[in-house]
Amino acid sequence: MNNVALLSVNLGPRSYQIAIGTGLLQLIGEYIQKVAPHSIHTVIVCDSSVHGLGQQLSDRLGSSGNRCDLHVVASGESSKSIQALERLWGQLLSCRADRGSLILAVGGGVVGDLAGFAAATFARGLMLVQVPTTLLSQVDSSVGGKTGVNLPGAKNIVGAFWQPSLVLIDTETLTTLPAREYRSGLAEVVKYGVILLPELFGYLEINAVQILNREPTALKHLIFESCRAKAMVVEQDERETTGLRAILNYGHTFAHAIEATAGYGKWLHGEAVSIGMHMAANLAAETGHCDPQFVHRQRRLLESLGLPIAADSLDAKAMWEAMQHDKKVQHGKLKFIVPTKLGHVEAVAGFSWPQVNQAILAATI
Ligand SMILES: NC(=O)c1ccc[n+]([C@@H]2O[C@H](COP(=O)([O-])OP(=O)(O)OC[C@H]3O[C@@H](n4cnc5c(N)ncnc54)[C@H](O)[C@@H]3O)[C@@H](O)[C@H]2O)c1
Ligand SMILES: [Zn+2]
Repeated sequence: MNNVALLSVNLGPRSYQIAIGTGLLQLIGEYIQKVAPHSIHTVIVCDSSVHGLGQQLSDRLGSSGNRCDLHVVASGESSKSIQALERLWGQLLSCRADRGSLILAVGGGVVGDLAGFAAATFARGLMLVQVPTTLLSQVDSSVGGKTGVNLPGAKNIVGAFWQPSLVLIDTETLTTLPAREYRSGLAEVVKYGVILLPELFGYLEINAVQILNREPTALKHLIFESCRAKAMVVEQDERETTGLRAILNYGHTFAHAIEATAGYGKWLHGEAVSIGMHMAANLAAETGHCDPQFVHRQRRLLESLGLPIAADSLDAKAMWEAMQHDKKVQHGKLKFIVPTKLGHVEAVAGFSWPQVNQAILAATI
């Protein structure tokens, strides 16, 4: 198909391609045929917000002779649960899914994580194709192989690394995405600019209007660059063992603490990440790790993309305590990813409560 950008994620026997373009889902049958020539059964796991798309894909695959089952998952984080997983396992059983079946995850990160975990576990592993339909899932969660569900009070605590066989990103799916969800995904794109890709950061600065208008060329570019950054990190640290993957956590130690203390649901994840990046940049500047100019530059970009850089009524002490319980704390050492210059970050331990408090206050209204 014309105008499709292809990117490889090189993970030895678990390597796969990411295809990015406009309208590429019209050729879903051909794409699946290429990665799974012997599969004749597809189970589409689809978010209720994109039920129509799931049905279209089912019709398309069905007309090319593929046996197709459609499982719809209620929209929202509460579907990343053991109960929803059990329902999905039950559906896989009743539609006689076996090792030759393929799971097609159609939706945002919730469906990608849930369906991915079902693929990792049912019959000890089914092929998985990700069709992400939110910006966040297109630039982040569909790539890298992390799958899983939440337990009450513990996000993403049960899961598996299970790489997809293909990621199909059709930018047309974003036309129906609510503006707030769309902007939230942009925070992760800014993150890639800060941690690895100064050119992407510059592109976002210059093209903010086109990006907010969701112009296809701009979308394709920023999704491609984001996936390229994520793939680079994942290729070098597939299972988060060398420490490199931790750089993806820029802004996230603060963000998770905001999400945990402000009550889940008040902020979308990307909004919390945006505020968290502002805090992390402030922490870096205040402790001499980066130039204060960087804080202003990042702030200007986040604001031009309609993202928040501060929150009201944050409880800094409660955030500090939540940080001590973060999954990413290793052997009692809380590390923050801090920028040293645009395109480069470092993991630094040993910040004191007054320093962290000051960084939080810098992003509190
Ligand atoms: N696996 C990973 O590496 C990874 C990385 C980052 C985040 N995550 C997970 O991803 C989840 C968040 O993902 P998300 O932001 O995509 O959330 P989401 O899946 O909840 O989608 C956000 C909202 O958009 C709706 N939606 C989806 N596609 C749509 C479309 N095309 N048009 C209209 N509405 C649409 C959904 O119904 C939902 O209401 C979290 O559970 C997070 O833990 C996983
Ligand atoms: Zn994130």
